[in-house]
Amino acid sequence: MEQYLNAPVKEVITKFPKVGKILEEYEIGCVPCNVGSCLLKDVVEIHNLADEEEKEMMARISRVIYPGQEVEIPRTERQGKVRSKELTYSPPMKRLVDEHVLIKKWIALIPQVLEIFDVHSEDDRKIIIEGVNFIRSYADRLHHGKEEDILFKYFDETSDIFKTMLDDHVEGRSHAKATLEALEKRDRQGVVDHLMAYRALLTEHIKKEDEILFPWMDRSLSVKQVGELFSKFNAADDRADQDGIERCEKFVLEIEKKFRKEESK
Ligand SMILES: [Fe+2]
Ligand SMILES: [Fe+2]
Repeated sequence: MEQYLNAPVKEVITKFPKVGKILEEYEIGCVPCNVGSCLLKDVVEIHNLADEEEKEMMARISRVIYPGQEVEIPRTERQGKVRSKELTYSPPMKRLVDEHVLIKKWIALIPQVLEIFDVHSEDDRKIIIEGVNFIRSYADRLHHGKEEDILFKYFDETSDIFKTMLDDHVEGRSHAKATLEALEKRDRQGVVDHLMAYRALLTEHIKKEDEILFPWMDRSLSVKQVGELFSKFNAADDRADQDGIERCEKFVLEIEKKFRKEESK
């Protein structure tokens, strides 16, 4: 079993497709992930299943790999700290999760904005420009900036999980750029396609961070590192363009108000 725990999960799934189905049942979405070179043992560790759940899942996996044999299943090693199903965060991680809330508010509004979007209306084009400004200034510079320049530095950034997260950030930037290019050409469909793709990308990305990555990071960091993170985040927020952040927050609240009013008409 040890041999498969130390093998890239995609290899295990390719050899034993049933393992992919079992992982999915435990909400471990390795089948759709296009990287897949994370090791099976790391995948199990990072998802922090309850003891009983992990035992049951590993027993099912071992029955697929070694049918009819009794195999000893080593328990995956974890970084200390209490395991809990409930999502709780340290103060610096909570700050990032709170920033996600505002980002999620904007991306939830994107379909409504696009539904009535007239590429030839200057007011409508302004909304798209402000929306992309939010993506660049708030979601990317302020928020992804803290993740990339501070938080991820505490971990092995060359590992697949971080490569996946960084690739998502890069892809988000390219959708923001392509949205403005399409807008410039008055290409309505291009604006719709890129903003909707951004929405789908960030929705999944934030879910992965909130539910898996950040809780795992919190379990892995020492108390001293959490304290350090907190002061580094404070310093980054102090250096940020306060007026720019305020403009982004106002943009989301105004769009939200506008569409709430239209819904009640
Ligand atoms: Fe991120
Ligand atoms: Fe994030």
